[in-house]
Amino acid sequence: MSLDEMKRAAARAAIAFIPDNSVVGVGTGSTANHFIDALAEIKGRIDGAVASSEASAARLKANGITVYDMNAVDRIPVYVDGADEINRHLQAIKGGGAALTREKIVAAVAEQFICIADETKLVDVLGTFPLPVEVIPMARSHVARELVLLGGRPVYREGVLTDNGNVIIDVHGLQIAEPGKLEGEINQIVGVVTNGLFARRRADVLLLGTATGVQTYR
Ligand code: 5RP
Repeated sequence: MSLDEMKRAAARAAIAFIPDNSVVGVGTGSTANHFIDALAEIKGRIDGAVASSEASAARLKANGITVYDMNAVDRIPVYVDGADEINRHLQAIKGGGAALTREKIVAAVAEQFICIADETKLVDVLGTFPLPVEVIPMARSHVARELVLLGGRPVYREGVLTDNGNVIIDVHGLQIAEPGKLEGEINQIVGVVTNGLFARRRADVLLLGTATGVQTYR
């Protein structure tokens, strides 16, 4: 089974978690794209979606699914999104697609966060995947210096602007023993919008696509 087939299987398994008539939180990336395609097949039984990126909003609309502004929605029972790395406590690194801030906002509102991923994303310790940090452009050098003090090796993601008009710094070389602590420390740096650690609001369920089927972790 290819990685893409594992992503697709995990994405399709998430459909079982979607309540009728709900507004669904939808993430960003190749696994989330599989989820959008699966959601299109049941669009008659949902109200619509809130998207964590302009790219996902466009794909949802192209599939005939109503996309709501986050501020127009009272509740999101379920948010479905991928991850770049996730550990067995269901704490994740996200933001490989530069959508981390909107992803974090939708995850914060959602009552349940269902993470969908292929088996290569499950790790013992977070940090092999460089940690994305969304930064206000004028604070780029200041934030990079502060990230060095926290033990990381910051690398500016050239040529990328987020949907919010900000830049991304990817932090290499971290072995993240305490994800919740580091998440808070980085978010305290002036000029940081947010970072890609989803530890304080971790996933509630992980649907992991593997060679032998979809495994569920809670
Ligand atoms: C985007 C993300 C994605 O969830 C993450 O990068 C995983 O992507 P993919 O499903 O393509 O492996 O955080 O900002």
